[in-house]
Amino acid sequence: MKLSDKVAIVTGGARGIGRAICEGYAAEGARVVVADLDLAEAERTAAACGGGAFAVPLDVTRQDSIDAVVDKVVASAGGIDILVNNAAVFDLAPILEVTRESFDRVFDVNVKGLLFTLQAVARRMVEQGRGGKIINMASQAGRRGEPLVSVYCASKAAVISLTQSAGLALIRHGINVNGISPGVVDTPMWDKVDRLFARYENRPLGEKKRLVGEAVPFGRMGRPEDHVGAAIFLASADSDYVVAQTLNVDGGNWMS
Ligand SMILES: NC(=O)c1ccc[n+]([C@@H]2O[C@H](COP(=O)([O-])OP(=O)(O)OC[C@H]3O[C@@H](n4cnc5c(N)ncnc54)[C@H](O)[C@@H]3O)[C@@H](O)[C@H]2O)c1
Repeated sequence: MKLSDKVAIVTGGARGIGRAICEGYAAEGARVVVADLDLAEAERTAAACGGGAFAVPLDVTRQDSIDAVVDKVVASAGGIDILVNNAAVFDLAPILEVTRESFDRVFDVNVKGLLFTLQAVARRMVEQGRGGKIINMASQAGRRGEPLVSVYCASKAAVISLTQSAGLALIRHGINVNGISPGVVDTPMWDKVDRLFARYENRPLGEKKRLVGEAVPFGRMGRPEDHVGAAIFLASADSDYVVAQTLNVDGGNWMS
């Protein structure tokens, strides 16, 4: 097993891609901390993981919540070896209609939440002196803008940039910071994406989802479990010499 005795926090771990990573890490021997706004769902995920997994409430937009999770995990699991910064929210609107409220919400979770969770965990990893692995969940949306998705795209471009900066800053402490860039993945988030495209592109519900799936070179939308292998690789010793990269796991979508 590649992650035996490692302690891994997965933010937004209750469902979707985060849940698949929690289950994959547990199967590799990690003790998983499912950290999510939705505690009831996080508890169900932790129970499915086994291996001493437990759920904690986390709102990445609040520093006191981040600090409480870090303190609790260190106290009850003896330290932190792996952080998956996966929690995020989506929104879209024509650029002439983007609101400050939507911008603040998306950037508070996807960018500030990610950075200050990374910072709180990395401080502990530096104190522990045994290195660590931090994996930031980016998106193909961070690799180029889209006319209706300006704010979310910008937030994910910031994730790719922060992964580069943090990766370069922290490798001298033995902390690898890398990212994963999914393409289009069939999760509850994409149900919201589909509803918003239906509204702004005047489409029937489900049509956008079908079309984006058909356009993926692999032949279908991603599934949460498609991202688990990359997440295990970036959390394990196999990736010790991989620094500040964001790996596309998207069925060829970005390349096409
Ligand atoms: N689904 C896709 O097509 C897709 C594509 C590219 C990238 N991604 C990225 O992958 C990651 C996971 O996406 P998903 O589709 O599984 O999303 P999802 O919406 O299904 O799950 C996100 C989880 O994050 C939690 N969360 C939201 N706000 C939070 C907060 N403030 N604090 C703590 N937890 C919070 C939610 O409760 C939920 O459990 C995200 O970073 C997303 O941007 C998704």
